[in-house]
Amino acid sequence: MINDLTSKDNHLMIGGVDSVDLVEKYGTPLYVFDVAMIRNQIKKFKSAFQKENLNYQISYASKAFAIKAIYQVMKQEDVHVDVVSGGELYTALQAGFPSEKISFHGNNKSRAELLMAVKNQVGLIILDNFHEIALLSQILKDTDQNIKVMLRLTPGISAHTHKYDQTGQTDSKFGFDVNSDQAKQAMQLVLSDPHMELLGIHAHIGSQIFGTQGFKLLAKKMVDISKQFQADFNYWPKVINLGGGFGISYNDNDDPIAAKTFISEIAAELKKACQDRSIPEIWIEPGRSIVGPAGYTLYKIGSRKDIPNLKSYVSVDGGMGDNIRPALYQAKYEAVVANKMNQENVETVHIAGKYCESGDILIDSQAIPKTSPGDILAVLDTGAYGYSMAMNYNRNPRPAVVFVENGQDKLVVKRETYEDLISLDLDY
Ligand code: LLP
Repeated sequence: MINDLTSKDNHLMIGGVDSVDLVEKYGTPLYVFDVAMIRNQIKKFKSAFQKENLNYQISYASKAFAIKAIYQVMKQEDVHVDVVSGGELYTALQAGFPSEKISFHGNNKSRAELLMAVKNQVGLIILDNFHEIALLSQILKDTDQNIKVMLRLTPGISAHTHKYDQTGQTDSKFGFDVNSDQAKQAMQLVLSDPHMELLGIHAHIGSQIFGTQGFKLLAKKMVDISKQFQADFNYWPKVINLGGGFGISYNDNDDPIAAKTFISEIAAELKKACQDRSIPEIWIEPGRSIVGPAGYTLYKIGSRKDIPNLKSYVSVDGGMGDNIRPALYQAKYEAVVANKMNQENVETVHIAGKYCESGDILIDSQAIPKTSPGDILAVLDTGAYGYSMAMNYNRNPRPAVVFVENGQDKLVVKRETYEDLISLDLDY
């Protein structure tokens, strides 16, 4: 959604900076992030928890967008981060992010990744399966180190979202099943390991979720499971981690729920379910909702194809390599013409990318002012799972990333060059 003012030249402004100037300075395609929006969303989550008088932690799910600069923003905002690979962990550490505020996720962490996490003393490892418990246990024994862990549970809750974005249903690849005795067995192993400190339990039901119902069910289920663990092991969790997944608005049909509504409904459910027991600290792991709305992708418009009485394609100089989401999830975005804001001569077109795939359509149908080559298209709300899922298909270099804040712009990721593209290739 457009939050910014339009300049007097009818240009799209982002964080107080003219998007047309950004294109002149850095070229296209270009990812631009309005950093104030990121900070603001974190504040909204924090104040929602404070209002409910809950102990909480916000852990940014960095898979949504993982570059050094974003870990530095998260450090400034004093939140935790989640990583899901050695690469994300390395980036966070290189950015100077404090390791004790890092949680390490993943359903198949390797020995090398676990060792890296232990050596760097990350704050938390979220255990997903029995193989990982065994691997970690051996590493901790060999290195004589201790570490905090949580158990990821599969709560058997199906979120209403794209099937690739569901993770909490019983047949999910993630976590310990709560319907069999797997979760109980995992508890036994962890509680008896002298090097592991069990901080609590975790579940994540999916991504781009609009209703509060799934989260309310989850909150109740996590408390019920905790009561069972209390009965079986005399263990009551210090933390219940409810994962991320809070939906954002990509287009007019999306109706996202405000952070404060999500949190207040979850809080009510928890307070009711815990009865006279102490309410555990609540952790959430938002990714998309923190960075998604703050991101814009700027493209130059190039060719056009008009098929008489059928449709018109307008092509841009990027596409599925910088935003795979329309092709992969049929995600629907909205765009504006950044150098022709407030223009009325509108037509409906199909916005195509430049990749050699018929499926490389960024926006299936969009009303925009009449364009000509060289105009700038800004696709909105591309901050999450855009750059982080970018690729070099067709050997297109990945775009640069610019942060804007208080009217200042700063390059935070350089544009890939053709030399970069062949830098790992060897002759044969
Ligand atoms: N926590 C866990 C354990 C997760 O698996 C995820 C996302 C999150 C938190 C953050 O979810 P978020 O708040 O960003 O919805 N590439 C897909 C999304 C995959 C999400 C994977 N897990 C997309 O572009 O829609």
